[in-house]
Amino acid sequence: MVLATDRGDIGRPTQAFGGADVRFSLPAGDVHVWQASLERSPQIVAQMHHVLAADEQARAARFRFARDRARYIVGRALLRELLARYLQSEPEGLVFQYGEFDKPVLRSGPWFNLAHSGSLALYAFSAAGEIGIDVEIDDADFASERIAERFFSPAEVSTLRAMPAEEQPRAFLTCWTRKEAFIKARGDGLNLPLDSFDVTLASDAHAELLRTAWCAEEAGQWHMEDLSDRQAGYIAAVAQRGNGFRVVRRKVEDTIEGSMPGQE
Ligand SMILES: CC(C)(COP(=O)(O)OP(=O)(O)OC[C@H]1O[C@@H](n2cnc3c(N)ncnc32)[C@H](O)[C@@H]1OP(=O)(O)O)[C@@H](O)C(=O)NCCC(=O)NCCS
Repeated sequence: MVLATDRGDIGRPTQAFGGADVRFSLPAGDVHVWQASLERSPQIVAQMHHVLAADEQARAARFRFARDRARYIVGRALLRELLARYLQSEPEGLVFQYGEFDKPVLRSGPWFNLAHSGSLALYAFSAAGEIGIDVEIDDADFASERIAERFFSPAEVSTLRAMPAEEQPRAFLTCWTRKEAFIKARGDGLNLPLDSFDVTLASDAHAELLRTAWCAEEAGQWHMEDLSDRQAGYIAAVAQRGNGFRVVRRKVEDTIEGSMPGQE
């Protein structure tokens, strides 16, 4: 997929979303999940770099590998472009605040979070409550390199180990992304012991926070949805504090083709 900006006929990535006049609305009961590719031409990356704040540009400069730097720039520029459409503001004018564990937030809302795996990025936006999203490319090597016993709760480990061996890599990633989505929604980073809460992990079980060690009521205060896309080859989940929500999925690339639901 090619961004409109790859045509080289415009000066800034804003045009990627159909021009500066395109506005998105975010009803309280919806979570919008956007999928995007972080692979862009060097020219587009250079344009997107201008949209970033000085601290983001400084962080970009610290990446050791050019590919990681470019993906970070694109990820942040697209985040700004999407938020600007919800807020009816300019992407470069947005000022992110950072939580104790570096979660970017906007004081004015909406709640948002992003995750990337390889060249894929997923963004979640909500008007209703704290939100977290995680994605992993469906890769058995990633799963087998990581030992469940190190990251998961005893209940999750025993559920995983009771599964047929061929199902375990996928279940591992399902568990991983659900746990990460919850941690990211709370903004706790790895400060929250990963074995202190349980999530469902069978791919056919509804995504759910089952229990936390610190509060009997907490599990009931969160809602989770699985976002995995077998065809696209990724496993993903989103968690939000509050009641249930409807997931509305969109692709940045489709938007460029002009099929954008929910425009005002
Ligand atoms: C930082 C962390 C929140 C997620 O890191 P990650 O999995 O490497 O990265 P993801 O792609 O999921 O998310 C990164 C994005 O989340 C956002 N983010 C950063 N810190 C965050 C935090 N504390 N909470 C929520 N979101 C955060 C940022 O937007 C970041 O992307 P950007 O800096 O390029 O804009 C943290 O949980 C972490 O370091 N995890 C390590 C992995 C691990 O051990 N997981 C065990 C799971 S069982």
